[in-house]
Amino acid sequence: ANATIRLDPMFTVGPLRRRLFGSFVEHLRRCVYTGIYEPDHPTADEHGFRRDVAELITELGPTIIRYPGGNFVSGYDWRDGVGPAADRPTRLDFAWNTIETNEVGTDEFLQWCTRLDLEPMLAVNLGTAGVREAMEYLQYVNGKPGTALSDERVRNGHPEPYDVDIWCLGNEMDGPWQLGHKTPQEYGRLAAETARAMKMFDPSLQLIACGSSNRGMPTFGTWEREVLDRCFDQVELISAHAYYEPVDGDHQSFLASAEDLDRFISSVVATADHVAATHKSDKQIMISFDEWNVWFQERFADRDLERVKAARDLIEDSYDVQDAVVVGSLLIELLRHTDRVAVACQAQLVNVIAPIMTRPGGAAWRQTIFHPFALTARHAKPVVLDVASRGPVITTDRYGEVDQLHSVATYDDQTGELVIFAANRSRTDPLQLTVDPVAFGGTLRLVEHLMISDDDPHAHNTEEAPDRVIPRPGSATVTDGRPTAVLPPISWHCLRLS
Ligand code: AHR
Repeated sequence: ANATIRLDPMFTVGPLRRRLFGSFVEHLRRCVYTGIYEPDHPTADEHGFRRDVAELITELGPTIIRYPGGNFVSGYDWRDGVGPAADRPTRLDFAWNTIETNEVGTDEFLQWCTRLDLEPMLAVNLGTAGVREAMEYLQYVNGKPGTALSDERVRNGHPEPYDVDIWCLGNEMDGPWQLGHKTPQEYGRLAAETARAMKMFDPSLQLIACGSSNRGMPTFGTWEREVLDRCFDQVELISAHAYYEPVDGDHQSFLASAEDLDRFISSVVATADHVAATHKSDKQIMISFDEWNVWFQERFADRDLERVKAARDLIEDSYDVQDAVVVGSLLIELLRHTDRVAVACQAQLVNVIAPIMTRPGGAAWRQTIFHPFALTARHAKPVVLDVASRGPVITTDRYGEVDQLHSVATYDDQTGELVIFAANRSRTDPLQLTVDPVAFGGTLRLVEHLMISDDDPHAHNTEEAPDRVIPRPGSATVTDGRPTAVLPPISWHCLRLS
């Protein structure tokens, strides 16, 4: 089958938001300990953080990192993680049934971010804590020297305020699994009051209210409306979370997961704009898609609690080629919504449902899903273009008919570089792609075509074979100024043109 796409530099969705290439570090088993931090590791720096992992993170290219949770934050006392290491308490983290030593806390994390040139995005605990703790945490992190809390930070070795700009008001407060779970009315009030207090300290803060934990939540839609109705004037963003996996072996719907993301984002935008209308306001609440990924929750649910408690590792999924195609496609969808999605964080960064894996004391390697993220973050250009496409559809049980080709384009009007990201979502049929160059003076030149594709869609990378799945050159050629390429079934592509 053939698919043609037509683009025009005049038809823009909006500026590319670099915060769409975010990630997430939660205190959840091996994400922090033996993930980013392992003082006994041969590559550890003087702060105890792994250099081999840091190098992979730099190559991956995330821009903003959410911390410290996740479910963890709803039981977390930030004070446990600051001050002399010897005085920090060891606690049971109720959310994940884990012993938390607090060796890594806010100062260690924020200084690691500075060293790696990553923007931090902190979450306050609105599950078991409230307005006062948020005010105190904010002063500790961002306060100028001269008050008790900021001077505590100075004594702990960091005189300068960290100036963290963007803050999450709790985590997944709609979920019954959340410590301190609330109704939308309760949470909306608490979010408003916390945000009001935080803005008294600094009106320029960007604050994120909790939205829904997924689109299937019974309160989806109502939650956003009720919460935003209460904190509309105090927040800039509302969060969304989504994890995808093949449900009951339905791989075709899984490959079309971006369809769910699209409907999710559109519904939240519609709800936020409805609340704006009722508030007689033109304010556009933006979305922070601060947890998204492939996550095999069915496998996780099968594990009995005693095993979960005993295990060193937790939710360390191993990803295959098909999962990488889905991740690439989810990134495509996030870029397509750059007009209203301002932040997105893949969950998580290391070991826990992550693009980077480590062996304690040993190697670090890239999972398959590392590659579409790294290529998109590296090659996406400053403007996202609308893509008009014509081509075949595939039928899915979950979403009905969807386009077989899923694509987005980004453009640099200074250099004329055009980068198309595309996925062939069919499990069986290749696709012949043509890019119509008419709006680019009738001719386009090929710079590079890389793809993720394999005869075995379930191939994955391991410590022993870390480069089993890597991006390989695709088949693109240009004839009479028209780029064409064959996209194999279950494949993801980065097509660089100029
Ligand atoms: O990322 C793993 C968990 O998924 C997070 O802690 C939680 O917010 C979500 O349910």
